[in-house]
Amino acid sequence: MKKTVSFLVSGRGSNFVAVAKKIIAGEIKANLGVVISNKKKALALEKAKDLKMASHYIENNNFSKREEHEEKISEILDNHKTDLVVAAGYMRILSPFFIKKYSNRIINIHPALLPSFPGVNAQKQALDYGVKVAGCTTHFVDEGVDSGPIIMQKVVEVQNSDTTDSLAEKILAEEHLILTESVRLFCEGRLTVKGRKVIIS
Ligand code: GRF
Repeated sequence: MKKTVSFLVSGRGSNFVAVAKKIIAGEIKANLGVVISNKKKALALEKAKDLKMASHYIENNNFSKREEHEEKISEILDNHKTDLVVAAGYMRILSPFFIKKYSNRIINIHPALLPSFPGVNAQKQALDYGVKVAGCTTHFVDEGVDSGPIIMQKVVEVQNSDTTDSLAEKILAEEHLILTESVRLFCEGRLTVKGRKVIIS
């Protein structure tokens, strides 16, 4: 049976669109669920409309507790029969309640080669550190910050001339590739989590 993929977003939404387009094209055999943003002005919401996808805006500031915000989110995800949650540029840390509920069913994309440079401004952290290669990582979300079992990684070379923007642009192209591939593998039932390792069959 086809799995249903939903998205948590906060901004531009290029990763969400990359995955959604593959599903629409039938290259990932899955159903599209819903797009949920915690930011009203997220461009991703416009893009969801363009793709004729269901979308919701749920402002986190309207809830006194993180869990309450996420209960509302999970209600909507469940209404859409979500199997996989893709955190595609969702700029909030998820609570243990949410992570337990969707255990090994939340995939995050991070613009660095984890475990190096977790958290925000990863590309700038990498550049400031002076690395010669950078990249991106997809992983299942656990209770830490960008610390869950790694699914895929892609490397890009850092040139002397790179700025944070040029590096972010190079990494973003690779993010779209590994995120779509990771979602495809999940939807085909080919990812198994064994401790810290994700076995791809
Ligand atoms: C990406 O770089 C992603 O890795 C990070 O936030 C950015 C989101 O970009 N978590 P977009 O909204 O998918 O275009």
